[in-house]
Amino acid sequence: MNAAKKIASFLIVITLLVVVAFDIWGAVTLGTITPSPNPELRDDANQVVMVFGATGSVGDGLLKAAVEDPDVEKVYVVTRSSSPRIEAGVASGKVEMLLHEDFTDYSDLADVLGQVNTVLWGLGTTSLGMDDETYTWIHVDFPIAFINAWLAARTDAPMSFHTVTGMGTDLNGDQHWAREKGRAEQEAAMLAEGTGLRTFGYRSAFVRPTSEQANALHYSLEALLRPGDLVIPAKDLGGAMLEISARTSELDNGTLIDNADSIAFAQAYQQRQARKSAETE
Ligand SMILES: NC(=O)c1ccc[n+]([C@@H]2O[C@H](COP(=O)([O-])OP(=O)(O)OC[C@H]3O[C@@H](n4cnc5c(N)ncnc54)[C@H](OP(=O)(O)O)[C@@H]3O)[C@@H](O)[C@H]2O)c1
Repeated sequence: MNAAKKIASFLIVITLLVVVAFDIWGAVTLGTITPSPNPELRDDANQVVMVFGATGSVGDGLLKAAVEDPDVEKVYVVTRSSSPRIEAGVASGKVEMLLHEDFTDYSDLADVLGQVNTVLWGLGTTSLGMDDETYTWIHVDFPIAFINAWLAARTDAPMSFHTVTGMGTDLNGDQHWAREKGRAEQEAAMLAEGTGLRTFGYRSAFVRPTSEQANALHYSLEALLRPGDLVIPAKDLGGAMLEISARTSELDNGTLIDNADSIAFAQAYQQRQARKSAETE
């Protein structure tokens, strides 16, 4: 074996050992919430859904989940550009695309916001190569401005806000991105306190893109991370969010959902949908 082959083999072994260590850590530590087997459910909790970040990898799956949910009657997509899934949803009549530029100002959506029950927030981006100020603007100022505008339009209908912050989010962390995502979770929950709105931060690990967007690398990574509950398909994450919305009294405002918790609620969602479709057959 020549030197280059030896180095490549060594790197592969080290990478696999790191993945195994992560899997063991994930399997042992993640999963703090068990969905109730007999939940109180409201069919109208997800009647009108609004999706942010729908052109992105995570948001595409959140939109797919909302479009395919039979209890969701209408989906508003707030976005600065379109995508094949948005276009298909608009053509089906279930989705309305609201082109938007300034994500710190929602005054032009005031009429629509009063109808919305559930917000699936997949808007966000990597901190790599981004200055701290811009990162804070996108990940704190955008969602907090939205929640303020939404609360100003609120009604007695169920309302829940679901945002994908990510594993490693930590209000007291060393990294700017981790602290700012933690601050967004905390400020959202504080604004919602006592209003009837519930906010949830999803500390997901790897969110595998939808089948339409995923490639062989995504599926390989999924296979490696699945033993540690470190992966969830984007559409399943949307299902978990819709399940938590429908269980209107199960989780308190501000609950943080780790990746294994998301998997558990996604399974509960799939079982409920399967029971419903069996009943209607
Ligand atoms: N992917 C994962 O495995 C994963 C795991 C854990 C957490 N997360 C978090 O989930 C969020 C989304 O990640 P992603 O992988 O889906 O990212 P992505 O594929 O890059 O998508 C980003 C989405 O956010 C929108 N966006 C970004 N900057 C914006 C801005 N300045 N104004 C308006 N819209 C903006 C994009 O809209 P345009 O198309 O208009 O740019 C797009 O819809 C991030 O916060 C990420 O940290 C992701």
